[in-house]
Amino acid sequence: MSSVRCEALLAWYGEHARSLPWRDTTEPYPIWISEIMLQQTQVKTVLPRYAAWFARFPNIAALAEADLDDVLKAWEGLGYYRRARFIHRAAQDIIEQHGGIFPDQFDEIMALPGIGRSTAGAISSFCFAANTPVLDGNVKRVLKRWHAKPESNDKTLWILAQQAIDDAANPATWNQAMMELGATRCSAKVVDCPSCPVGSYCESAFQVEPTKELRKTVPVLDLHWQVDLYLDAQKGIWLKQRPASGIWASLWTPPISELPQPSKRRPDHIHLLTHRRLHLYANRFTDAPMDEGIWVSSLDKHALPTGIHRLLATIDGISQLLPSIPPVE
Ligand code: ADE
Repeated sequence: MSSVRCEALLAWYGEHARSLPWRDTTEPYPIWISEIMLQQTQVKTVLPRYAAWFARFPNIAALAEADLDDVLKAWEGLGYYRRARFIHRAAQDIIEQHGGIFPDQFDEIMALPGIGRSTAGAISSFCFAANTPVLDGNVKRVLKRWHAKPESNDKTLWILAQQAIDDAANPATWNQAMMELGATRCSAKVVDCPSCPVGSYCESAFQVEPTKELRKTVPVLDLHWQVDLYLDAQKGIWLKQRPASGIWASLWTPPISELPQPSKRRPDHIHLLTHRRLHLYANRFTDAPMDEGIWVSSLDKHALPTGIHRLLATIDGISQLLPSIPPVE
């Protein structure tokens, strides 16, 4: 990519970039957290969580010392909770292996839990001005269109991404601009060649169509779960912690048992995960809980999966009983 093409993209970014809080800093801690949050979650969902995160964990040391439960609570609603567990472990690694200072070398950054090549590229370029490309889903699509190579594999795309950033004067702005282009003018659904800053350099300009929703057909497994609700006007709700692996790992839920076959009644809530469709049946109990667990009279401290929040929202009178149920997206 010649520098004139690069300049066109950078000039457009300078004028049209969305103002996002993680773009106003070069501090590794906030940039790292934002990049992990943005891996699988949309900007509009991340924004309120991003600010709340730093009120709760102002620095890496505070994060490393926190209980995993508190970290999961701060992650509530963002989904893919594995990321929160990785962040917690990475903060501890930074304290133990890097003296509490976020590493500035690409290989050391990529060695931290939860950080792959693309995220390490983003952090290295934004914080340390390294020539390291980002290659997330948006950037891959932009590069495939730009070079009219719709079938290219990751190996080829990494080479193209590296060549492009090597030509750019400012790698941080280049990465941001490529992501911005892929999120706005050249997204999967919107292909806006007439107003594209690099339309005149793009080998597929005016020839690409919005990507049809040709999702890979991954089999979705239906699971039928009975969710046992023990509710008490004084004590609140009975919760137990899920195992450390599997669906909703380490989150808190009412006791759940898997039904061997679909119930005859309609589920109270159906919750979609990436490869699972959870049919949730609320089962009210009035006797004392037999299963292990704890009574919780407010949901301020325990992270519950969004599916359970949604199920609880269907229960009459729940907001009087548990006034702090957070809104779910
Ligand atoms: N997605 C991943 N990283 C991003 C960033 N820095 N800005 C906007 N969207 C992103």
